[in-house]
Amino acid sequence: MMLPILMKHRYKIMKALSLALLAAFLAVGCTTETQEKSTSDASKKPSHTKEKLPNIHTDKSCKMAFTYSQELNNEEEDLHILGKSFFRIPWVEAPSATTARDGLGPLFSANTCMHCHPGNGAGVPTDKNGKITRSLVMRLSIPTIKNLNNGLLMKDGFTPEPTYGGQFSLNGTSDTPYEGNIEITYRPVAGKYDDGEIYELQRPSYKLTDLQYGPLHKEVNIAPRIGLALIGLGALEMIDEKDILANEDIGDQNRDGISGKANWVYKPETNATALGRFTWKAAAATVKHQSANAAHNDMGLSNPLFPKHNCTEKQTECLEALKGRHNFDLPMERLDAITYYLQTLKIPSQRKTENFEKGKKIFTQIGCVQCHVSTFQTQNGYEIHPYSDLLLHDMGEDLSDGHTMFKASGSEFRTPPLWGVGLYEKVSGYTALLHDGRARSVEEAILWHGGEAKRAQEDFKALSRQERSYLVEFVKGI
Ligand code: HEC
Ligand code: HEC
Repeated sequence: MMLPILMKHRYKIMKALSLALLAAFLAVGCTTETQEKSTSDASKKPSHTKEKLPNIHTDKSCKMAFTYSQELNNEEEDLHILGKSFFRIPWVEAPSATTARDGLGPLFSANTCMHCHPGNGAGVPTDKNGKITRSLVMRLSIPTIKNLNNGLLMKDGFTPEPTYGGQFSLNGTSDTPYEGNIEITYRPVAGKYDDGEIYELQRPSYKLTDLQYGPLHKEVNIAPRIGLALIGLGALEMIDEKDILANEDIGDQNRDGISGKANWVYKPETNATALGRFTWKAAAATVKHQSANAAHNDMGLSNPLFPKHNCTEKQTECLEALKGRHNFDLPMERLDAITYYLQTLKIPSQRKTENFEKGKKIFTQIGCVQCHVSTFQTQNGYEIHPYSDLLLHDMGEDLSDGHTMFKASGSEFRTPPLWGVGLYEKVSGYTALLHDGRARSVEEAILWHGGEAKRAQEDFKALSRQERSYLVEFVKGI
C-alpha cells in the first residue's frame, strides 16, 4: 500500500514539489530544433521510456513519452503515479469492497476523470456516430437577483437552478434517478472567404429531455462545456499574477478593439478571492481548486474543498443515499496526488513544420497574438509558450452561452492556451474546439470568433488560401 508511506513523507514531498515543477519545465520538448528557445540543457537528456501511453504527452515524432518528467525522484514519481491512478480508475458506488475508490455519486456525469479528458486531451460532444458523449457537461443557472447576499453565489460565481443544481447529471447510482438526457441539433451556417471559397459551420442548439425531477426553472440558462486538455497546468500556475494582469485593458483604454479582463473568483483553499486561471471562464484559481470542483460536480465525490454533495434540497433520493457516509470520498491526500499528477505532466514540444514560421508571422500580423499571448516567464525563471493571456474576452453573441461566472459575462471566455491543439486529433480521435466543441477544425474555430476578436476573424477571411493554410499549420504546431 503506497498511501501510508506517502503520508509519512508528505511534508518532504510538498517541499520537493516546487523543485519537481521546475524539473518538469526543464523537460519540455524533445528535440532542440522543435524548441522555440531552449532554456536549459536538460531538454537534451535522453528520454524516459519506461511508460508509453496513448497520451497527449506522447509525441510520436520524437519517440518520447511526455507522461512525466524524468527528473522526478522516487517519492515524487510515486506521488505522480498515485495521482495518475486516481485520475484514471473508474470510481464505484459506496459502500463497496474497494473503499479506495468508492463514493461515486449519488449524482454524477462520468465515473472517471479520464472519461472527459481522454489521454489528458480535450473532450468531445458527440462520437463518430453523432451520439452524445458523457463528456459534454451542461451548466445550469438562473438569473441572479442583485444585492442578494447569497453565499452560494459568492462560492460558485452564479445562481444554480433550484431543482437540478449547477450541473446536469446524466447518471445516478442505484437508488438515485439520473437527472435526464441531452439532445443536440446542429444547423449548418454557410459562409464565404473573401476570395470566394465557401465554408460551412455548424451551430449547436440543446434540449434537456427525460427530466427526472420535474420541470426546470422557467428562466434556466443551459451552458454546454467540453473538457479542456490538461497541458502545462503546473506552468500556468507558476506565472506571476502581475504578469497576467499586465495584459489587462479593461474598457479598451488603448483603443485597439481588444480589452482583456481578469476573472476574480472564490478560492476554497484560502476562503478568499483570487485570480482565476483555469476553465473556459477562468473560474478556478488553481489546479487543486478545479480538480476538487470536478470531483464534486462531475463525479459526486465529496472532498475537503467541496465537503457537500451535489444534491439539491429537492432531490430526496440523492440525500437519502448519503446517509451513513461520513468521511470524504476523496480525502486531501488523494486530491493532492491528483493535483500533483496534473501539475507534473509535460508540455508537448512545438512541431515546427515547413511553413511554421510563415504562419507565425501571419498570426502576429492579424492580431491573434493579442489574446493568444505567446510567451510568459514563470516565477522560477522558465520561458513557456502557452499562446494565451489567461484573460477574459467578449467573443460576441454567436459564442455567448449566457452563463455568468464571477466577473465573466455570458459572452466572455478565457483565451484558451493553444499549445498541443494540433495533437488533439491524434489523442482523442477528434478535433472538437471551442467551449462547446462545435468547431471541427482550427479554421472553424477562427471563423466563430466575434466580439473583440471580430477584426482578427475578418482579417483571416481576407487572407489568400495559401496564407490561411500557413496560419493553420502554425497553430497546429504550437
Ligand atoms: C463529466 C466530464 C468531466 C469529468 C468526469 C472531469 N472533468 Fe475536468 N473538465 C471538464 C469540463 C467540462 C471542464 C471545463 C470546465 C469549465 O470550463 O467550466 C474541465 C476542466 C478541468 C480542468 C481545468 C483545465 C484548464 O486548462 O483550465 C481541470 C484541472 C480538470 N478538469 C481536472 C479534472 C479532474 C482531476 C477530474 C477527476 C476528478 C476531472 N477533471 C473530471 C469535464 C470533466
Ligand atoms: C479577442 C481575443 C482573441 C483573439 C484576437 C483571437 N482569439 Fe482565438 N480564442 C479566444 C477565446 C476567448 C477563445 C475561446 C472561445 C470559446 O471557446 O467560445 C478562442 C479560441 C480559439 C481556438 C480554439 C481553441 C480550443 O482549445 O478550443 C483557436 C484554435 C483559436 N482561438 C485561434 C485563434 C487564431 C488563429 C486567431 C487569429 C486569427 C485568434 N484565435 C484570435 C480569444 C481570441
